[in-house]
Amino acid sequence: MKIRAAILKQSPVAPPFAETRPLAIEDVELDPPGPEELLVRIGATGLCHSDLSVINGDRPRQTPMILGHEAAGTVIGIGSAIRDFAIGDRVVMTFQPSCGHCLPCAEGRAALCIPGAEANGRGVMMAGGVRLHGARDHRDIHHHCGISGYADHAVVSRHSVVKVDAPDVPFAELALFGCAVQTGVGAVINTCRAQPGQSVAIVGLGGVGLAALLGAVAAGAIEIVAIDLSEQKLAIARELGATRVYNASGKDVIERVRADTRGGVDHAVEVAGAAPAFDLAYRITRRGGQTVSAGLAAPTAEFRIPAVNIVADERTVKGSYMGSCVPQRDIPRFINLYRAGKLPVDRLLTDVLSLDEINEGFDRLDRGEAIRQVVLFDPQEIALWRAKKDGMTKNDC
Ligand SMILES: NC(=O)c1ccc[n+]([C@@H]2O[C@H](COP(=O)([O-])OP(=O)(O)OC[C@H]3O[C@@H](n4cnc5c(N)ncnc54)[C@H](O)[C@@H]3O)[C@@H](O)[C@H]2O)c1
Ligand SMILES: [Zn+2]
Ligand SMILES: [Zn+2]
Repeated sequence: MKIRAAILKQSPVAPPFAETRPLAIEDVELDPPGPEELLVRIGATGLCHSDLSVINGDRPRQTPMILGHEAAGTVIGIGSAIRDFAIGDRVVMTFQPSCGHCLPCAEGRAALCIPGAEANGRGVMMAGGVRLHGARDHRDIHHHCGISGYADHAVVSRHSVVKVDAPDVPFAELALFGCAVQTGVGAVINTCRAQPGQSVAIVGLGGVGLAALLGAVAAGAIEIVAIDLSEQKLAIARELGATRVYNASGKDVIERVRADTRGGVDHAVEVAGAAPAFDLAYRITRRGGQTVSAGLAAPTAEFRIPAVNIVADERTVKGSYMGSCVPQRDIPRFINLYRAGKLPVDRLLTDVLSLDEINEGFDRLDRGEAIRQVVLFDPQEIALWRAKKDGMTKNDC
């Protein structure tokens, strides 16, 4: 079938993207779903820094590619071997498909699935090959994380989706659970295993970092330290529950955090995707504490640890991919927390866009002016969101 999509023709492309236009909106040919695949009408897809990192070349991927890995939608076609999905099911996509059989999957570590990571690394589907082709030149187009959500429809593996029973939650919010919420909330709850009464620091306050902050609030952290280079992000962090905020470029920030938290925090989570932020997170962690890195730095970036310090202080340094989540367990769990008012992830949604506005959206993300923006495919829904936002702004004045 013919779909409308934003195609990254080549990378790296430098900003301003409103001028360089890395994402071209074109018709694309989408193959029907294979036996273990679903055809999904996309409701919403978020703009994440991991998409930006492909565009600007920080994390190179095969081109042409349709990006977009934080998505939600409705099942409208079902592969011949699938029995447990029905037309009309609402699904949240997860950016690391998990086979359920490899060693990490058997250990309950779906985020580390080996065939899933291999397929993502090659820009192909879990079952092999691509389902996307140029409408005019018929050239193969690569998939991003098995999703390619910057399109009005997608064919995805059954291992890339979680069925959700939340008719009251709009797609614009559901999409966030696929990446920002799984990654951020999961980093604090699953990777750190933060306990009530502990202290948690978040370094980097974008969509993922602020989701981590909400995770720290939900986990019952008593001291929540928020650090960024942007004063605007620090102000939002305060509103969302940070007890202390620091500008990373400030003087003596490490010493100040250590002094204010009586020797450092129990858990420091780096979510900036930059080695200096990882270093800062390590240095503000207390003796015996743990530092978790969830940001995805450029492949050439390195982080050095003083060897003796990790031993004498019994420090733990951990990576956190997709928040160490098991999507089938954690996405419904996090949605329930949201519906119960304990994880206000709607606060992360700063704007909605049409597909045609996506390059401008990436400029805003690049300049640090947005938290989460989502592309919506229904013009009426966009108009409704904008009216709602305008109303809120007027009431604020
Ligand atoms: N581990 C995973 O599974 C996973 C999943 C999604 C995204 N990511 C990565 O997480 C990172 C954050 O994603 P996002 O969409 O929230 O990005 P974002 O661009 O919205 O936010 C990044 C924030 O980090 C801040 N920052 C940059 N350098 C800093 C520094 N030295 N000290 C303090 N703050 C600094 C920026 O000001 C910005 O507010 C990216 O690197 C992304 O690729 C990882
Ligand atoms: Zn992401
Ligand atoms: Zn697996």
